[in-house]
Amino acid sequence: MYFEIVLCIGLIGTGLSVPWEAAAKGGNWPETHQRLINQTVQHRTDIQLIFLGDSITARWANVGRDVWAQHYASRHAYNYGIEGDRTENVLYRIEDKEFDSINPKVLVMKIGTNNLGDCTAPEISIGIYEIIRHLRAKLPNTKLLLLGVLPRDGNFGLKVEEINKIIAKFDDKKHVFFLDMSKHFSTAPGKEIPDLYDHDKVHLVLKGYQVWQQAMEPLLKSLLGEK
Ligand SMILES: *[C@@H]1O[C@H](CO)[C@@H](O)[C@H](O)[C@H]1NC(C)=O
Repeated sequence: MYFEIVLCIGLIGTGLSVPWEAAAKGGNWPETHQRLINQTVQHRTDIQLIFLGDSITARWANVGRDVWAQHYASRHAYNYGIEGDRTENVLYRIEDKEFDSINPKVLVMKIGTNNLGDCTAPEISIGIYEIIRHLRAKLPNTKLLLLGVLPRDGNFGLKVEEINKIIAKFDDKKHVFFLDMSKHFSTAPGKEIPDLYDHDKVHLVLKGYQVWQQAMEPLLKSLLGEK
């Protein structure tokens, strides 16, 4: 445990990112980020529902697209998932215009899985807390539906549980609403339901997106104010 904390805190001063400080990425990332800023500018008045996160969210656009078309498109939903994103990258995107001058009803967020390898549960939870703080400042009228980190590849079972236990406390039943979908995706820590996952046991297949939609629907409906 001590070693793990040193590993992540030890990144300070090295120029490498930590979970709670905004950080951009290289490669295609700046272009994807710009595409999402453009999406915001182009659809400013239409955006009612946002999905924010990493690749698991991004793949609503391909693997999960049928479920999206059936359940979210008519609710004016927009995808803000980027492959490989960590909490610090999401922080950067919030600070750099992705959610400027919009007023969505609900923002669904699931983030943290890409920080699991080199950060502790408390450190990742601080990153998630910082994201919520920045989202609340940018989108004061938007309800935040905070999803727990999903179980993955038989690894990190207890760490995922620990994060979800910490971030559950961010639920204030007013602006932030937490939902842990773990019981729909695994039978015990480290025991994922294989039918729902891709070969890498991290990403979801279509059935996984169906389960996500069903597990989230009652809370989403109520946050959107639908009857
Ligand atoms: C974003 O919009 C600008 C202005 O319309 C355009 O020039 C640019 O190519 C767009 N960038 C991306 C990545 O879509």
